[in-house]
Amino acid sequence: MTTRKPIRKAVFPVAGLGTRFLPATKAIPKELLPIVDRPLIQYAVDEAREAGIEQMIFVTGRGKSAIVEHFDVAYELEATMSERGKDLSILDSTRFTPGDIITVRQQVPLGLGHAIWCARAIVGDEPFAILLPDELMVGNQGAGSGTGGTGCMKQMVEAYEQVGGNLVSVLEVPREDVSSYGVITPGESRGTLTEVRGLVEKPPVEQAPSNKIVSGRYILQPEVMRTLEGQEKGAGGEIQLTDAMARMIGTQPFHAVTFNGRRFDCGSKTGFVEATLALALEREDMGEEVRAMARRLLG
Ligand code: G1P
Repeated sequence: MTTRKPIRKAVFPVAGLGTRFLPATKAIPKELLPIVDRPLIQYAVDEAREAGIEQMIFVTGRGKSAIVEHFDVAYELEATMSERGKDLSILDSTRFTPGDIITVRQQVPLGLGHAIWCARAIVGDEPFAILLPDELMVGNQGAGSGTGGTGCMKQMVEAYEQVGGNLVSVLEVPREDVSSYGVITPGESRGTLTEVRGLVEKPPVEQAPSNKIVSGRYILQPEVMRTLEGQEKGAGGEIQLTDAMARMIGTQPFHAVTFNGRRFDCGSKTGFVEATLALALEREDMGEEVRAMARRLLG
C-alpha cells in the first residue's frame, strides 16, 4: 500500500445562524445544543479525534465564541469540582493540546464553499477532513467513540488509506428528498467504495443523477481551496463546496464511502428529537428508564 499523507486537520463549519431552532439559538450556538448531555459539536469533534485527527479548525461567526469556550480549560469550574472531590474525567473530551483548537471567522455568510475556503491558510498544503456537525453519524455495533461502532470519519480515513484522493460519505435517501442535498453520479462500486463520476448540489428530483446523497463528511485534497478561489455562486445563490468538488473530478481520484451506521439530521427539529431519543435509549445509565418513559408517553 502506498503511504498517504495522513489526515491531521479537520474543518468544522459552524458559522450558521441556526434560525430553524429559534428562539433556542438566539444566544446559544446551535452546535452547543445538547443531544442527551453532549453538545452536538462534541459528537463531531469526537468522531474526528477517533479517526486520528489532531487539529480542529472551527469556521465561526459572530456570537459563536461559546464553542471555543467549550473546548477551553474552565479553571474556576475545575478548581471548584476538585475541591468538592468531584470526578473531572467527565470533561476529558473537551481537552485539547494548546494550539490544536483553531478558529477563523467567516465574516459574511456566502455558503459552505466559502466557509471552507476561509480556512485555507490553516489547512495549508495537506489533505484535510470536513465534518458538518448538523449531521450526527453513529457507527454500527459495539465499542467505538462512545456513540456506537466505528465512526464515519474513521471509516473514511481507512478508505482514504487505500485509495487516496478525495472522498465523500454518502447514503441513500428516498428519491423525493434528494433536492435538499449534494448528489453523486455513481460509477463502479467495490465494497463500500463507489467511484464518483459527477456531483450536483440540490438538483430538482427529476434531474438527480441518483439517490446517493453527500452526508456531511469529506476528505479533500488541498487543491480544492484553489478551486474555490473566485468561484461563482451556485445553488441557492451560495458558493457551493459541491461545485468545487465537481470541478476536481477527473483531475484526481474521487470516491464515495457508504457509511456503515446511522445518520441523524440534527439540522431539523424532528431529526434532533430522534437523535436524542435514540441515543438516550442506548445509554447504559438511563436506557431502561427512558424506554419505560417512552412506553408511558405512547400510552
Ligand atoms: C450541505 C451540502 C450538501 C450536503 C448537506 C449534508 O447542504 O451543501 O451537499 O448534502 O450539507 O447535510 P446544507 O445542509 O448546508 O444545505
